[in-house]
Amino acid sequence: MPPEPAPSTPIRTTGQQLRRRSWAEPWKIKMVEPIKVTTAAQRATALRDAGYNTFLLRSEDVYIDLLTDSGTSAMSDWQWAGLMLGDEAYAGSKNFYHLEDTVRRHYGYKHLIPTHQGRGAEHILSQIMIQPGDTVPGNMYFTTTRYHQEHAGAQFVDVVVDEGHDPANPAPFKGNVDLAKLERVLTTAKHVPYVCVAATVNMAGGQPISMANMRAVRELCARQHVPIMLDATRAVENAWFIKTREPGYAERSCGEILREFCSYSDGCTMSGKKDPLVNIGGWLSLNDDQLADKARNMVVVYEGLHTYGGMAGRDMEAMARGIEESVQDDHMRARIGQVEYLGELLQVAGVPVVLPIGGHAVYLDARRFYPHLTQDEFPAQTLAAELYLDAGVRAMERGIVSAGRDHKTGKHHYPKLELVRLTIPRRVYTQAHMDVVAESVTAVFQNPDKPRGLKMVYEPENLRFFQARFEPL
Ligand code: F0G
Repeated sequence: MPPEPAPSTPIRTTGQQLRRRSWAEPWKIKMVEPIKVTTAAQRATALRDAGYNTFLLRSEDVYIDLLTDSGTSAMSDWQWAGLMLGDEAYAGSKNFYHLEDTVRRHYGYKHLIPTHQGRGAEHILSQIMIQPGDTVPGNMYFTTTRYHQEHAGAQFVDVVVDEGHDPANPAPFKGNVDLAKLERVLTTAKHVPYVCVAATVNMAGGQPISMANMRAVRELCARQHVPIMLDATRAVENAWFIKTREPGYAERSCGEILREFCSYSDGCTMSGKKDPLVNIGGWLSLNDDQLADKARNMVVVYEGLHTYGGMAGRDMEAMARGIEESVQDDHMRARIGQVEYLGELLQVAGVPVVLPIGGHAVYLDARRFYPHLTQDEFPAQTLAAELYLDAGVRAMERGIVSAGRDHKTGKHHYPKLELVRLTIPRRVYTQAHMDVVAESVTAVFQNPDKPRGLKMVYEPENLRFFQARFEPL
């Protein structure tokens, strides 16, 4: 069970200190899923068996699961009803056409190529657009996205603004592209097949990019005749930040902002497991007819027919309905309100978090938790392990382990950010769960008995963070 917070922790008084009105959800709960409460001894055993990697824990050993917001959303009754309307025809399912129409209306792109999830779309996009020796600039890397770009023979170059790498800088749009950095790449690289823009930027802490910046990126790329491919995985969350932070957008709906934002790009990859409120699915969108033709030729080889792409008809129906729900302002207010609520509790308790609080997660700054550890001793991996031990909360490392190795030199990438992500699934946990998480994180931060770090004892070749194993030093 989560331990009682020490009497001195300030969390209990935060009710009076919160600076805004409540973000209460626009739904009520119809069905519940019991979760297991474990003892400290059980957690110690489970963590050792999992090689001190939270990805390798069994979910039934987890009390509050903040590993990811990917595929972990709760669907609405309207989505569940949609599952019963699945048209499981091999070709031309009516649910595909519903999804195609929904994506066109809300994201605005001409062609929809369904895939089993986001990385399926990244694979196809990279294979049809990248030639060996190409350079792909992007506003910070994402693990699977960069993997597919490199696998196709490109070199990824980070062009995010410098603030994006500084966890303490409270700038409102730390996901912005640094236009000077981008222009340098566009004018010096041998060939840039496309610029990859992510909204929001996951590895920077769920930080948004502004409409003004996106428009400027568009103008710059248009001058150089380079297309822009959006990673639209959390673009509706990004729209909410534009609405609440960027002058001129307060009166526009998330849906309208999303349409304008996407209009500055030529296509997108999408993990339906995030914004669109489903447990599996994704797509690739393209405006160019010839490229879409190439993509359809590949999707039938790697994913499934071009009218299902690895999804069942019912999954496509649930995703079409999830998209409609995801662009509602009331949904987004509660979604991001809950994440900010947890972030505020931690800030009040003096816990070092990435500022501003991101769209899908609160990121803990592991360097400031454990200043005695070097990056080679895996401070963020260590912190994620300690959090699980304290109260059964599962988080994710987003530091040196996630960054992997340079595929040419074989050396570790040493990212400036050494973070642990507390990722909030959509519509799943309550405010009381957030209180328990804040109490546990605060207890771990204040614990005078500091861990000694970890050593990696098994390192997989690709995307090592998923399956690597560790032992305490
Ligand atoms: N792009 C971004 C920004 C993502 O966050 C993810 C997945 C993907 C692409 C790949 O999509 O998982 O459907 O294949 N992010 C998950 C996470 C895994 O936990 O952040 P996918």
